[in-house]
Amino acid sequence: MITLRFVYISLSGNTASFVRRMSQHLLEKHGDAITIDAVDVKELVKDGQDFYEMAGPFVAFLPTYLEGGNGVDNGDQEILTNPLGEFIAHADNFKQCLGIVGSGNRNFNNQYCLTAKQYSQRFGFPVLDDFEMRGMLDDIKRISEKIESLYNI
Ligand SMILES: Cc1cc2nc3c(=O)[nH]c(=O)nc-3n(C[C@H](O)[C@H](O)[C@H](O)COP(=O)(O)O)c2cc1C
Repeated sequence: MITLRFVYISLSGNTASFVRRMSQHLLEKHGDAITIDAVDVKELVKDGQDFYEMAGPFVAFLPTYLEGGNGVDNGDQEILTNPLGEFIAHADNFKQCLGIVGSGNRNFNNQYCLTAKQYSQRFGFPVLDDFEMRGMLDDIKRISEKIESLYNI
């Protein structure tokens, strides 16, 4: 049994919906061969739970919330999603991160999924992919395939 670990943060529910639908897709495909452990860092903070060391390799999912600006020479300041970065930094969790999937809205042009790129630079793991808003079925299938290859399933 292989455990797929997903760590995400979701403020308005889009990323939570994507992770839930993608997990369902993976479970339907692989049945009892896998188990999924998904955690929303916002819920950990809300419940007053301490951050902890991840028990194995994980994939991170990060929506983009930036303070104004144009994403080129100003306004690349992360807001609201910072607890995900703190969780990834905690107990060297970043060493177990296989990569990050960014999400956002293309209307933000150059700022589209910028925070995932910033995390990639900061922690040294790759940006695996991106999707808009809740993500479409094609996004679920494509990103699932990347996760399958990372876990060799
Ligand atoms: C205040 C605010 C700022 C945002 N800034 C960006 C941005 O800079 N770049 C981007 O790609 N998407 C941006 N978005 C879009 C969100 O990333 C997108 O709606 C995402 O799906 C939200 O995920 P969540 O529902 O899991 O929180 C912004 C949305 C809001 C409400």
